[in-house]
Amino acid sequence: MNRRSRGPTVQRFTLAQRVEHFFLILSFNILAFTGLPQKYFYTGWAERIIRLMGGIETTRLIHRTFAVLLILQSLYHIGAVLAARRAGRERGAMGLGFTDFRNVLLDMAYLAGLRREKPSFGRYDYRQKFEYWAVVWGTAIMATTGLIMWFPELLARLVPGVLVPAARVAHGGEAILAIVAVIIWHFYNAHFRPDIFPMDPAMFTGRMEVERLRHEHAEEYVRLMETGDLVPEAVSPPEVEPARPATPSPSEDQNSSS
Ligand code: HEM
Repeated sequence: MNRRSRGPTVQRFTLAQRVEHFFLILSFNILAFTGLPQKYFYTGWAERIIRLMGGIETTRLIHRTFAVLLILQSLYHIGAVLAARRAGRERGAMGLGFTDFRNVLLDMAYLAGLRREKPSFGRYDYRQKFEYWAVVWGTAIMATTGLIMWFPELLARLVPGVLVPAARVAHGGEAILAIVAVIIWHFYNAHFRPDIFPMDPAMFTGRMEVERLRHEHAEEYVRLMETGDLVPEAVSPPEVEPARPATPSPSEDQNSSS
């Protein structure tokens, strides 16, 4: 389905979820921008970026400030997930199960032309779920290894000190993996996929066209219909013929030409 199709829309993300996403964009980009020049400090471009930011001390300060923001945001997210579960919202929506791995194979078969039907997805499809969990474990690794680098003496008192340089290697490696994953996986799925290019606006507007929901998240569509959260009249509006330019009747024609 082409994303440009218009029609009734449905609430997909709350304002709080959109604000969270915005802060994730902000913190992740700034952490990458201030982290990479530290990893590749010996290169000319890294030197220029560090100079641009006011020197290595300022670069480190900015990195640590946004690291704190990302950690606070992650704690908020855990709280929000627990609160949503308690309220019965999004229950299990991001949970990975056998069906998701089966859907990967079915989708591949569909894309390879071996299957006529696309698998149907729930509130989130397997691509979105894999990405979500990659952000969860990626952030856990970055926060743990980052805090080890931040407070090395504290750690060295508890465990062998060799873990400090190991944490630096893991932190830098995971940073590269995360940046590449965002560029390839996220940008493709949220921007460059032919049916949504140049971008999927749902995470910014909070809404999605019902037709698109029906097409891309059929099981969620059925669920919302069953719970009464999608009003049937709103789903299938009467087809409105686009207004055609009035064809003048022969008499009008004569009038206008006279
Ligand atoms: C989640 C919380 C994070 C914490 C607590 C954290 C903390 C740190 C610390 C303490 C350093 C050492 C430099 C310094 O002393 O300032 C560092 C380096 C670095 N950080 Fe982070 N960081 C975090 C997240 C991230 C993220 C999300 C990225 C990139 C996407 C990133 C990329 C880097 C890179 C590339 C380095 C240089 C590593 C090296 O020298 O090999 N960091 N970080």
